Amino acid sequence: MQVVITGVSGGIGKALAEYYLEKGNQVIGIGRNNTIDHDHFHFVTCDLRDLDKVKNLDLNLSDEPILLINNAGVLGKVRRTVDQDIESLQEVFEVNVLAAMIMTGKMAALENQLTIVNISSGAGKNPIPSWGAYCASKAALDMFSKVFYLEEQERGRNTKVYSIAPGVVDTKMQTTIRAVDEENFSQKQRFVDLKNMGQLSNVKEVARKIHRMLSLAFNEEMIICSVRDLVD
Ligand SMILES: NC(=O)c1ccc[n+]([C@@H]2O[C@H](COP(=O)([O-])OP(=O)(O)OC[C@H]3O[C@@H](n4cnc5c(N)ncnc54)[C@H](OP(=O)(O)O)[C@@H]3O)[C@@H](O)[C@H]2O)c1
Repeated sequence: MQVVITGVSGGIGKALAEYYLEKGNQVIGIGRNNTIDHDHFHFVTCDLRDLDKVKNLDLNLSDEPILLINNAGVLGKVRRTVDQDIESLQEVFEVNVLAAMIMTGKMAALENQLTIVNISSGAGKNPIPSWGAYCASKAALDMFSKVFYLEEQERGRNTKVYSIAPGVVDTKMQTTIRAVDEENFSQKQRFVDLKNMGQLSNVKEVARKIHRMLSLAFNEEMIICSVRDLVD
């Protein structure tokens, strides 16, 4: 299996890349920055906001099965919609939704056996004030996952599709959340408390759980899922 992952410079994406490299898979990372050096790792430089470039990326894939993990994501500026700016709204939808849809379409155009994993969020189901674009983008990713699954069924393809919420994970994104000022983000203290109480998941553990999720027998009910659904 060849594993294609977006956003591998740190956080969950890097942990997933390292997890699959350790398992002996060929991994192709796509993103702006790279910190992985491994014989079975190939990095393709791409700002995922450049959607034409995403569409035309040459990934040099073989005919082995493909696991595409649309992991790259941004929170955008954390502030109420009344104070929001267009640039931040655009960035969130380009990276979190449009690049993922384009990458998925690219892979679907190939003959390979395909598994798509969209890294979603509980924020796609539960509204959080000042995260308007982020919450809406993850809800969009969840719905897109369901639509794409049906399309693959219509095409007679046995594609598996998942939109997985990883829980609250100790990454740069959480550092950013804790650094926002309270005036713009009423729930800041909740995230500070989670960190102080040691409640954030570790990226390696999350990568392992995501893989465990994929190794369960797939059915349509599993498309929208969370690593929290797994019983240890
Ligand atoms: N951490 C959590 O608690 C949590 C909870 C729920 C869901 N998630 C989701 O998990 C995924 C990974 O997040 P994380 O927590 O690991 O955050 P992170 O550490 O901030 O990593 C985000 C990754 O996305 C990449 N990225 C962002 N903008 C990009 C762009 N324009 N082009 C290419 N790559 C870009 C970043 O690369 P560079 O900046 O180096 O280019 C980085 O590799 C995201 O989809 C996030 O929404 C995270």
